[in-house]
Amino acid sequence: MSSYNRLRAPALFLVVVVVSLYLLYSNYPSNKNNTSNPPYSLYADLNNKGDVNGRQFLESLQLIETQKNPKFVLFRQHEDADFGNQAQEILLHHHLALQSSRFYIYQPLYWKSRNEHLPLSAFLLGATEERAVPASFVEELCPKGSDDVVHIQIRSSQEDLWKTALSALKRKERCIIVDNPIIDTAYLSSPAAHSIWPLFQKYLARWFRWSPQILNIVGRTQAQLNLRPHFFSLKGEPYIALHIHRKEFVDHCRTAAQQKLGFTNWANLPSSIPITTLPPQLNPENDSSVMQHCYPSLFRVMDAVDMQVRRKPYLRTIHIIHDGVTSTDLWKLETALKNSERAQRAGWTYGPIKSVTHSAMAPHESEEIDFLVGADAELARRAEVFIGNGYSNFSSFVIALRMGGDLVAAGIAEDITLL
Ligand SMILES: *[C@@H]1O[C@H](CO)[C@@H](O)[C@H](O)[C@H]1NC(C)=O
Ligand SMILES: *[C@@H]1O[C@H](CO)[C@@H](O)[C@H](O)[C@H]1NC(C)=O
Ligand SMILES: *[C@@H]1O[C@H](CO)[C@@H](O)[C@H](O)[C@H]1NC(C)=O
Repeated sequence: MSSYNRLRAPALFLVVVVVSLYLLYSNYPSNKNNTSNPPYSLYADLNNKGDVNGRQFLESLQLIETQKNPKFVLFRQHEDADFGNQAQEILLHHHLALQSSRFYIYQPLYWKSRNEHLPLSAFLLGATEERAVPASFVEELCPKGSDDVVHIQIRSSQEDLWKTALSALKRKERCIIVDNPIIDTAYLSSPAAHSIWPLFQKYLARWFRWSPQILNIVGRTQAQLNLRPHFFSLKGEPYIALHIHRKEFVDHCRTAAQQKLGFTNWANLPSSIPITTLPPQLNPENDSSVMQHCYPSLFRVMDAVDMQVRRKPYLRTIHIIHDGVTSTDLWKLETALKNSERAQRAGWTYGPIKSVTHSAMAPHESEEIDFLVGADAELARRAEVFIGNGYSNFSSFVIALRMGGDLVAAGIAEDITLL
């Protein structure tokens, strides 16, 4: 071989590697479209529509004999929580209101990153659409100084919290304003929350609904990324949704290890619900065990995928849900998932994964950025299999939504692996 030829092979190889790396990375537009441009005119319209619907609802009550003395409740919401936690808190408040036969006075969602209040109906419909009024009616319904308005605080041990809240809401006054937030992560992560799950599950099935803004993005994403829209649909590919946290999550995990915390919220559902945790079992007393589950290595993530693909070898599509995983991590995962030798060694009957997509590939306009987190949650809810993180509020919210929806009847709601 001439020296020219000897040089040419490695040089060509290098060019191929550089070009493929470039193509791979440029496929991950993680920050493309990210010029936040909130849809303020939509938000204003939705606020107006809420007022109009609220007025109509109050007028309709006057026509019903049994509703001549309607009762209302206004809860205090946490303001520092992320989207999933706020949504859960709102759903639980609404559930409490329904259980105590009071009409729910709904409040805006607090958008932490911009320090703004956004109309709840842009995100969730169940608590805003029927039999509820917006907070703009509080002064009219609950005038200051009226004997028919009472401010209360609800305090109780975790064990008795729900019972205490329900009995506090039984008072005779027309309007109850609860001045302290009552539901927090510690409560939802405790065994006490198991006893409210069966009714909350029914609540979700009846009342949980995303806004059209969120469902729109979900529909477009499923069509464009060829993800099956519903378990009985023949369109698109059935898929695994894999939720991973990286980067700053490690700090959260170190704190969890120090405080010896277990899984969060609904990731602790009663043991009668067979959600599998990838072995070894979590031992909150053991720092390394907490880190292993809270900040799993990519090898561990692959083990979880192996476990599910061996069960359901026809799954050849994975949609990765993340809020800023590095392109390197995505690239490593994609390479491993699509590697046919690895697939064979791991016992995947039908070969490697064919399609790997992820959050940042969801087609959206810049004014839709506020809705992406909801769309991510719904894409994870609809997946045939969900692989999530037991320490994540988002994963825990997805678990509740899967267990409280149509997937239960299909027998796939519980197809969940916690890392
Ligand atoms: C968009 O960018 C901002 C600031 O750079 C960041 O806080 C936000 O999380 C990004 N949103 C998305 C959807 O990537
Ligand atoms: C989950 O939510 C709680 C309460 O809002 C918060 O304290 C905690 O930091 C959240 N966890 C993560 C991982 O964001
Ligand atoms: C702690 O957890 C790690 C990771 O699972 C495990 O290797 C180690 O044996 C555990 N240590 C004890 C004392 O159980």
